Amino acid sequence: MIKVYKDKIEASEAMAEDLKTIALNSVKENGRFTIALTGGSSPIPLYNLLKEKPLVDEIPWDKTYIFWGDERCVPFDHEDNNAKMAWDTFLDFIPIPLDHVYRMNSEVHPRQGAEEYEKELKNHFKDSDPVFDLILLGMGADGHTASIFPGSGVIHEKEKWVDRGYNMELNSDRITLTAPLINQAKNIFFGVYGEGKAETLKNVIEGEYNPLELPSQLIKPDHGNLVWYTDEAAAALLESK
Ligand code: 6PG
Repeated sequence: MIKVYKDKIEASEAMAEDLKTIALNSVKENGRFTIALTGGSSPIPLYNLLKEKPLVDEIPWDKTYIFWGDERCVPFDHEDNNAKMAWDTFLDFIPIPLDHVYRMNSEVHPRQGAEEYEKELKNHFKDSDPVFDLILLGMGADGHTASIFPGSGVIHEKEKWVDRGYNMELNSDRITLTAPLINQAKNIFFGVYGEGKAETLKNVIEGEYNPLELPSQLIKPDHGNLVWYTDEAAAALLESK
């Protein structure tokens, strides 16, 4: 499903409400809400809403478990660190138990960090399949999502839940959830905004299937719901909106 809003703020308000609904339903059904956050700049308006009334009081933070979809291999206090961005933007301001927040270990070799995180996930999902209630994703103008970049080896990964991602353009090492894990989620929200992504968004959604060049095309939930939250600028070239 593709939802088109006037701008990123309106889209983030809608996404925040939908996130709250999923959180409440997940807690009602399973006693907990497990979410994976995305990095980048697109989710910041959403994260800001989560620490403000009414949402900060309505979301069951004491039964929420927070993971990440990917992380840059930089120290936690580095400005590019996704976990730092989330802590600075909202996690520091909500009543979530500290032991419910699982950041990726970005200070070791990415393969070690990936193995450690996979163990954390296996422990969290020990009594069930690794099904996130919600995974938040962004999309780069090059078609990447999480840290699954064009031409990278993790595109072909079928078994691992977490792997090394590598951004050749920026020569930056990453840790990322893999597409097979992401696709098991009950709900996946993409947040894609701005005219700079319009052509890529059209190619990803309406173009030929070519995940080597457009890794965001790997994201097709096995059983869950996929919703694209976009603004008019990013959706401008879409036929199917
Ligand atoms: C990251 C994200 C990445 C992001 C896209 C879009 O670690 O940067 O996980 O996949 O979602 O690069 O980034 P923007 O939201 O900044 O455009």
